Amino acid sequence: MIEIIAISGSLRAASTNAALLAALAANAPADCRIQVYDGLGRLPIFNPDDEGERTPAEAARLIEAVTRADGVIISCPEYAHGVPGGMKNALDWLVSRDAAVGKPAMLVHASPRSLYARAALAEIMRTMSFALYEETALEIALLGKKPTEMGAILAEDANRQAMREAVRGFAEFIRGQ
Ligand SMILES: Cc1cc2nc3c(=O)[nH]c(=O)nc-3n(C[C@H](O)[C@H](O)[C@H](O)COP(=O)(O)O)c2cc1C
Repeated sequence: MIEIIAISGSLRAASTNAALLAALAANAPADCRIQVYDGLGRLPIFNPDDEGERTPAEAARLIEAVTRADGVIISCPEYAHGVPGGMKNALDWLVSRDAAVGKPAMLVHASPRSLYARAALAEIMRTMSFALYEETALEIALLGKKPTEMGAILAEDANRQAMREAVRGFAEFIRGQ
């Protein structure tokens, strides 16, 4: 079983990025389990003085979850042409650890825009030595959609197939690492 941790860069209750990740988890191939990380909003702001023995509990939980996972999937909005602070903060807690080094990672997209944030995230993650899977970029346009509309879009056969294919491709990439 391939174990994947999925992280949404949005804390909004009706987040399109969180909805995409929940749908990916529901549509994953039988040999992949996707668990969505729910602690982004509880992470303290990163401070290098708080690493090692002083690592806060939620940061330790994130580091442990990424370390144990076979791969990481991130879906993240763009704020003011950048990566939202909460997402960058989570990544900052992983910078000086081994958790990210060589860890397979895939970006998926709930907005057809957000090109600055996509590029920035990819650059940050490559710099952190994640093994970024860049074959196919799954993009399902949910921007501005309400939860019921999102549910309908994510339930479309073509989108369910696209999600399954994206995770299958990522799983093959993980196996090849
Ligand atoms: C403060 C703020 C700034 C934003 N800036 C941008 C931006 O620069 N470029 C963009 O494409 N979208 C921008 N957006 C739109 C969000 O990226 C978009 O609404 C996204 O779908 C939100 O993700 P969520 O539904 O998961 O919360 C911004 C939204 C907010 C709240």
